Amino acid sequence: MAKVKYAFVCSECGYLSPQWLGRCPDCSQFNTMAEEEMKNPFEETKHSTNRAVAITEVKSAQVNRSVSGIKEFDRLLGGGIVNSSLVLLGGAPGIGKSTLLLQLASKLAGNNIKVLIASGEESEEQIKIRADRISNMSSNLYVLAENNLEAIEQQADELKADVLIIDSIQTMFLPHISSAPGSVSQVRECTAKLTKIAKSKSRIVFIIGHVTKEGAIAGPRILEHMVDTVLYFEGDSFHNHRIIRAVKNRFGSTNEIAVFNMAEDGLREINNPSEIFLSNKANENGSTITAAVEGSRALLVEIQALVCNSTYPNPRRQSAGLDYNRIAIIIAVLQKRAGLSLSDKDIYANVAGGLRVFEAAADLAIALSIASSLKNREAPADTIVFGELGLSGEIRQVNNIELRLKEALKLGIKKAILPKTKVKVKGMDLQAVENISQALDYLS
Ligand code: TYD
Ligand code: MG
Repeated sequence: MAKVKYAFVCSECGYLSPQWLGRCPDCSQFNTMAEEEMKNPFEETKHSTNRAVAITEVKSAQVNRSVSGIKEFDRLLGGGIVNSSLVLLGGAPGIGKSTLLLQLASKLAGNNIKVLIASGEESEEQIKIRADRISNMSSNLYVLAENNLEAIEQQADELKADVLIIDSIQTMFLPHISSAPGSVSQVRECTAKLTKIAKSKSRIVFIIGHVTKEGAIAGPRILEHMVDTVLYFEGDSFHNHRIIRAVKNRFGSTNEIAVFNMAEDGLREINNPSEIFLSNKANENGSTITAAVEGSRALLVEIQALVCNSTYPNPRRQSAGLDYNRIAIIIAVLQKRAGLSLSDKDIYANVAGGLRVFEAAADLAIALSIASSLKNREAPADTIVFGELGLSGEIRQVNNIELRLKEALKLGIKKAILPKTKVKVKGMDLQAVENISQALDYLS
């Protein structure tokens, strides 16, 4: 028999080392190396009989989708859930992952699709308590409290389940792997097993994954490569709304988001998110509305800035929901190209309502908010502002201008400050600006 080999694997990033290390040289985390049994992946490989085929000879496969009826969720996945696909849903504890998938399962079961929820975290009774809060459940929905993935597969086969939901990959294990559930090799092998279950038996598999403090899905990065779709659940404890973002999607566009509200009876869809993000818009200095594009849709959000005299030797610059590096550039451009004196000021900038906007198209709105707060002059009311700010102070083109303008019109906003464009939208008053100084002239 071949000698069993052991190695040390980093549980954060999957780095391999022959000896134990206190700190992983790859991801710099402490105390993450765990000993695991190593297998030679080539040992079992037989000579493959696969032949290369001309691409013109390959039959185009029809992508079949199951529509859940939760519209936001279907749109997020590109128009329904693709059959025999693997979807990973990541998010912080308590954010609503189990709730969302239970709601989805109940909808699917109502459409005569057989669903099995396998939970390694909760008992059947606990799932039932949650289900009672949500809605009537169909008898097509099965629950199973189990950690052993082989037992789960057997049950899914017996039931001939069309959809399998795994409540947290970190609690699952395969008996032939000696390491504990949640370890790199268990997570990797369990996911590989689930891929097989999805592809060979044409099942839809949803996997819930925990996230680490840094916001990555716990376990090796390889997890994200193995699945077809990766969704991240975002939101914070201060707001009731939850945002699910598609960061990878083999069957649809990425950066698509779905917005929900966590209510007493589960998650409710929000069909017009711009409304909630603007609902408390302040008519104060330092506030501007911009239109951010997320996947196939535009969202109106309020960008706020606060500029005040600093008491620190190094003035504070802080941002929430915005790209900090871009803010640093915007501040530099405002100083150099528009002559604003910001070097002794603390500057805070954020997106109201907890959304994240990392698009360069938000530059102009951030710049106007900062200038507005500094000068105590109001940004133009009922106007959306967007455009990328170049280092010489020029306002650069952005994509999806029409989409942004139409979203503004939907909410009754009829003025826009934007880069020069040929796009016209009926009923919209467009004020094109070429550089930052021109834009600042709009402050009243
Ligand atoms: P849960 O789905 O258990 O989160 P996760 O699986 O991501 O850890 O959601 C837990 C939170 O959601 C919990 O704090 C209670 C809240 N909640 C509601 O507000 N309304 C509901 O109808 C349900 C089921 C949960
Ligand atoms: Mg849960």
